[in-house]
Amino acid sequence: MVTGTSRGLGQYMGRALARAGADLIITSRKTEDLAPFQAEVEALGRKAFPVALDVRNYDSIQAGVAAGLAHYGKIDILVNNAGLNVRKPAVEISWDEWNLVLETNLRGTFFVAQAVARDCMIPRGYGRIINIGSVTSVFGYAGLTPYCASRGGVKQMTMSLADDWGKNGITVNCLAPGWFKTAQNSVLYENKEWLDYLVDRIPMRRPGAPQDLDGAVVFLASDASEYFTGQTMLVDGGISTGATRATVAPKA
Ligand SMILES: NC(=O)c1ccc[n+]([C@@H]2O[C@H](COP(=O)([O-])OP(=O)(O)OC[C@H]3O[C@@H](n4cnc5c(N)ncnc54)[C@H](OP(=O)(O)O)[C@@H]3O)[C@@H](O)[C@H]2O)c1
Repeated sequence: MVTGTSRGLGQYMGRALARAGADLIITSRKTEDLAPFQAEVEALGRKAFPVALDVRNYDSIQAGVAAGLAHYGKIDILVNNAGLNVRKPAVEISWDEWNLVLETNLRGTFFVAQAVARDCMIPRGYGRIINIGSVTSVFGYAGLTPYCASRGGVKQMTMSLADDWGKNGITVNCLAPGWFKTAQNSVLYENKEWLDYLVDRIPMRRPGAPQDLDGAVVFLASDASEYFTGQTMLVDGGISTGATRATVAPKA
């Protein structure tokens, strides 16, 4: 089950899992938005079952997980990807914007994991939960305060759930992408000055590409990661090394 598969990183990771042999439950708030991706997954020879699921709504989460379980009889892997961002100076963030980000990214991630673990993974004694974090799980950025708070929370929640459910054969990890151009942030990439600044800080000298999460998500979803849990895996081209070429001190 990969949440938020109507576009963006959810599709990147769903595609990688399908290519590695997984049948998918794909989700969006509007199932009609899932039709193109469903067709793409089916063209790869795998199944894709579309489910309406709003991570801000408790009943919708329960119904979406129940529908997926009724269809396949089990969920082995959960990629908790659905999320959003509100980009604003901290002093301009409203009460409702704070709630929107935290309810979607942190509360939603928790309650989807809870439903899947409670109704399937714990009874079966097997599961791979991959919570999507971000470089903002471990770094702060001006203009991203609620987002950083939510992603830091996902990292901490991941460790807590890993401790709780390890005895049930469930691994819980946080896959933390760096900077990837998608619908939620494409406006940033239209600003050449900002893009130059970003690339200067990435040791691999480019933003993330669609295939860059493939290895990490397949590893975390597979039996190869059986003893790997509670971790935050940054896939960020090295931006978390703190590289800043333009400001490197000149040789004396
Ligand atoms: N792009 C990056 O550089 C980056 C880096 C690190 C982490 N992330 C995180 O990775 C995830 C995917 O990002 P993206 O860039 O691919 O964003 P995106 O293109 O905006 O896609 C977001 C996905 O989340 C779903 N979603 C949003 N609110 C939802 C809700 N209330 N209930 C259910 N689904 C909801 C959307 O589905 P519908 O609108 O169809 O319902 C959509 O499929 C997000 O959690 C994001 O914060 C992104």
